[in-house]
Amino acid sequence: MTRRISLTQYLIEQQRQHGHIPQELRLLIEVVARACKRIAISVNKGALGEVLGTAGSENVQGEVQKKLDIIANEVLIEANEWGGHLAAMASEEMEGIYVVPNRFPQGEYLLMFDPLDGSSNIDVNVSIGTIFSVLKKPEGSAGVCEADFLQPGHQQAAAGYCVYGPQTTLVLTVGDGVVMFTLDREQGSFVLTEDEVKIPEDTKEFAINMSNMRHWDAPMKRYIDECLEGSTGVRGKDFNMRWIASMVADVHRILTRGGVFMYPWDKREPNKAGKLRLMYEANPMAFLVEQAGGAATNTRQRILDLQPSQLHERVSVVLGSKNEVEQITRYHLEAGK
Ligand code: AHG
Ligand code: MN
Ligand code: MN
Repeated sequence: MTRRISLTQYLIEQQRQHGHIPQELRLLIEVVARACKRIAISVNKGALGEVLGTAGSENVQGEVQKKLDIIANEVLIEANEWGGHLAAMASEEMEGIYVVPNRFPQGEYLLMFDPLDGSSNIDVNVSIGTIFSVLKKPEGSAGVCEADFLQPGHQQAAAGYCVYGPQTTLVLTVGDGVVMFTLDREQGSFVLTEDEVKIPEDTKEFAINMSNMRHWDAPMKRYIDECLEGSTGVRGKDFNMRWIASMVADVHRILTRGGVFMYPWDKREPNKAGKLRLMYEANPMAFLVEQAGGAATNTRQRILDLQPSQLHERVSVVLGSKNEVEQITRYHLEAGK
């Protein structure tokens, strides 16, 4: 019989063998995973659980909140606030940071999350997910404040996501490669189903919302035009396109079989750097993608090197198979000269 390794077992073995998962971080990851199981249950109930539709409120970014956005946010906070591993949390669905209440012990870690990614897909029964990023509170700072969160992504201690699709899959990095776990519903535990996840350097598959094409800048348009020319054009190969509109699901496909994902700046709202958020969407995904041998830029610079200036900062995103990401980035840098 093949040996089944649960998330708990995996984390304990990693801690013993390599010592790179401190006890508090292990607890944190397990608690996030447990929260994701609870969110998965709500997601699966759908209309039967009365979790579909809008909540009638807006978040700090002016987006209409869905019931599941709020449920997932509450589940993550409730699960994480009492364990003693965290100092504070930040979320797409909350304007400011959530400091662990005084009645609980405070830990050294900071947790950021997009509780429900792909909100437009909830009601249509298409894959959605939860994205999370873990930082360590800067040394020597008493208490905790928003500025403590504003660290570049290369300082993440861990990052991951859980995709609620045909399977519920948890994907994780602690800076030593990428591993995938699949939820065994009968056992109620995440089981290791893929270690050493690797993204092929080349691909014939891209993901972008093509309906925004007329708003892109010239280098982005050039790249996609060349892909669309296919085997008779400069790229000399036919491309395929996928756009799920849930970043988790698009990134999951890329971690599974390669590809490139783009959500670039565009002229619709020129003052916004992009649609996606740096701290709890781009940074954790960039960390995972790099750890799987891919690359991630904001069309010009490595995402993980960007110094954030605010919690809900937006960013352009290009990530996935290394050679494509480098080509897109080169087109932008050349055009900027
Ligand atoms: P969220 O549901 O957390 O607001 O994120 C949605 C994001 C991302 O998951 C996806 O790639 C993108 O928005 C889809 O945007 P379009 O609807 O513009 O295609
Ligand atoms: Mn999102
Ligand atoms: Mn969201």
